[in-house]
Amino acid sequence: MDLKLLLEFSPRMRYLYRITRSLMGDDPSHGWPHIERVIIWSNRIVNAEGLDVDPELLLASILLHDIGRVLGDEKEHHAVKSAKIGELLLEKLEYHRSFTEDCKKVILAHSYTLNVKPETLEAKVLSDADKLDAMGAIGIARVFHTGALNARSFEDSVSHLKTKILNLRELLYFNYSRNVATSLENKIRVFMEWWAEESVF
Ligand SMILES: [Fe+2]
Ligand SMILES: [Fe+2]
Repeated sequence: MDLKLLLEFSPRMRYLYRITRSLMGDDPSHGWPHIERVIIWSNRIVNAEGLDVDPELLLASILLHDIGRVLGDEKEHHAVKSAKIGELLLEKLEYHRSFTEDCKKVILAHSYTLNVKPETLEAKVLSDADKLDAMGAIGIARVFHTGALNARSFEDSVSHLKTKILNLRELLYFNYSRNVATSLENKIRVFMEWWAEESVF
């Protein structure tokens, strides 16, 4: 399966892809580059596990899952905002009500901090793909990049890797994801060893 093939067959999915690409922006950590990586991870998970997912539901959920990071009320959790904004966009595109409700559930379940359990295959795939993109060399880059945007110290970013990122593997649903996560975790551990070696000043 290649989720992006849908863009050739579905005009409204192509429209959703274009609108989310323009709204998400270039932030390499949480913007459009992240969405593109989550699409790639999702394709890998679905193909490796041979999952019978609804590709349209999965792609729409991926495209919309972090839209609440760039739009909406600051105080609300970004996944809640993403679900609300996603609902409006999908309604405008005249998606069926049940499709929109399913998509909202997938979006709400992607973030472990909201504590909504993924119930469907699509929700589990997005949840895993999103977490895999937080790991490995890209995960390290994302932590330091986000840290810089929030004036966080290097030490706090290293601590974030240890206390948050190295715990993500426990939250994964598929064997493929857990296997890949092991090698991505090892990269973070090597980086932390290098860090410890240099932290003698
Ligand atoms: Fe998110
Ligand atoms: Fe995300």
